[in-house]
Amino acid sequence: MTSPYGLSGKAAIVTGASRGIGRAVAQALVRAGARVCVTARDPGGVSRVAEELGVVGLAGSVAEPAHLRALTELALREFGRIDVVVNNAATNEPYGPLMDADTDRWREAFTVNVEAPLRLVQCAWRAWMAEHGGAVVNVCTEGAAHVGPNVGAYGTSKAALLHLTQQLAGELAPKVRVNSVSPGLIRTEMARFVWERAEDELAAGLPLGRIGEPEDIARAVVWLASDAAEWVTGADLLVDGGTRVRAAAVPRAYAVHERLRSQAPPDTGGTVS
Ligand SMILES: NC(=O)c1ccc[n+]([C@@H]2O[C@H](COP(=O)([O-])OP(=O)(O)OC[C@H]3O[C@@H](n4cnc5c(N)ncnc54)[C@H](OP(=O)(O)O)[C@@H]3O)[C@@H](O)[C@H]2O)c1
Repeated sequence: MTSPYGLSGKAAIVTGASRGIGRAVAQALVRAGARVCVTARDPGGVSRVAEELGVVGLAGSVAEPAHLRALTELALREFGRIDVVVNNAATNEPYGPLMDADTDRWREAFTVNVEAPLRLVQCAWRAWMAEHGGAVVNVCTEGAAHVGPNVGAYGTSKAALLHLTQQLAGELAPKVRVNSVSPGLIRTEMARFVWERAEDELAAGLPLGRIGEPEDIARAVVWLASDAAEWVTGADLLVDGGTRVRAAAVPRAYAVHERLRSQAPPDTGGTVS
């Protein structure tokens, strides 16, 4: 199949791709003609997605520098090139007020959400991109632009990732383009505690009338990774169903913040103190 995006024959690494947005990104890249290497921690999830999508996979945590090196080596060995890196794996822990935040878990959030994307780009740059060029897409969040209840570690680390995106875009030009996609609320496991049992209310609060699907984000990532975006770098593409412009459309309180105030991820017992 000829790719409308010029991704045929190109090779991509996608982190956090065993489910949710990362899986949808890997699938969309494959459909656009790319060869893809995925990672996530759970080996079962990685082999399942590798088999289902016909991609290469390596289980491990992006928090481990050795894993990022092994991932790069695997992609280079399998495909002989690394044209695209999608930094998608993330944690939304520690959840709760910052005064209660465990600093080891705070550091872990920055290791996974900020340091790992930098390390993986360094690996890809040294292995292929510095000489041949490429594109990086970092998955940030619509929420990084403002504060919200209980998501201080997540929001702060994602704001850092946004800044990292722009800094790298400047430093790696013109060889490598570096952009981000900032999703609004998407129907995935990470955000299940927000949308489950409140979907109608959340959808009614959004100008485009529904919460997002992983494929909404995947299309934006593929576009930014492709030659169609060849003159785009340092950009943050907001894909949020109109979350940021809701005040002009919907006369009600922001339902996502109400949910973040009253619900918590399962790891925390599902309640907020
Ligand atoms: N869902 C939303 O509403 C939303 C909104 C804004 C931004 N985002 C962003 O979108 C991205 C994807 O999130 P999602 O909603 O698709 O989450 P998800 O469904 O929970 O999927 C997360 C993926 O990342 C993997 N992962 C987690 N920690 C990892 C680590 N340390 N090393 C390697 N892989 C790891 C998970 O597999 P394992 O558990 O097996 O490692 C899984 O494949 C994240 O950057 C998130 O911040 C999501």
